[in-house]
Amino acid sequence: MKENRQFLKADEWLNFADMDTGQKRKEPMPPLQKPCPADARLIDLVAFNDNPLGDIPLRDAINARKSRRKYSDATLSLAELSFLLWSTQGLQALLAGGKATRRTVPSGGARHAFESYLLINRVEGIEPGLYRYQPLEHQLCFLRGDPEFPERISEACLGQTFVGKGALVFIWSTIPERAEWRYGVVAHKMIAMDVGHVCQNLYLACEAIGAGTCAIGAYDQAKIDALLQMDGEDEYVIYAAPVGKLPDVS
Ligand SMILES: Cc1cc2nc3c(=O)[nH]c(=O)nc-3n(C[C@H](O)[C@H](O)[C@H](O)COP(=O)(O)O)c2cc1C
Repeated sequence: MKENRQFLKADEWLNFADMDTGQKRKEPMPPLQKPCPADARLIDLVAFNDNPLGDIPLRDAINARKSRRKYSDATLSLAELSFLLWSTQGLQALLAGGKATRRTVPSGGARHAFESYLLINRVEGIEPGLYRYQPLEHQLCFLRGDPEFPERISEACLGQTFVGKGALVFIWSTIPERAEWRYGVVAHKMIAMDVGHVCQNLYLACEAIGAGTCAIGAYDQAKIDALLQMDGEDEYVIYAAPVGKLPDVS
């Protein structure tokens, strides 16, 4: 137990000058995002500047935020989905001649070592299934369908049935190499801190569109990685969050 406490400390920074990293070895930087599979169907999302959603006072969104585990059967619109994706990983600018990105969330060294997968159950005009967000193009890429996804995601989240009942489920993976390339063993604590910002933005963005979410940190690592067809080493799931419209309380 106590060895694990070390992970939360910053001691490794003192060794950073002597640390062997990909960047110091002048290895190529890992790609900013995973490419879509060849011939994958792409869905254009609503651009931030064309999307009128989310225009509520920040103080109201912060004040209303809570973990919400009950969702209505309502579908989300494409504009709502676009707003949530922009809020959590949306691109603001390309930096350093396209070698890094500035996004709606901070990230140590602008590494953004995440991929956003979406298990879509109910979004207007979108076939249910598994998708990945492509922040550089603000597009969704269709990966595959499976009518059993809702049950399988709940099962992978240790039987938390509400997870599969969302209109969609965010599932964030990490590709640690993206951060290790610059920070070596310092990278992993930063990845854990970074993903918290992503999910917090999701909480606030949900409040702004009459939806709710709940962070999910309790899941079966091997099961969820297998469900998303990840190797569990170079890429694995780090966090999840179902999203749904709030039940009518009137
Ligand atoms: C890192 C993290 C992991 C969490 N994992 C779960 C989870 O697996 N299942 C769940 O129902 N809630 C989970 N939660 C939600 C917490 O239970 C919730 O934030 C806490 O009870 C406080 O409630 P509030 O968010 O409504 O303020 C998690 C929250 C965080 C930040």
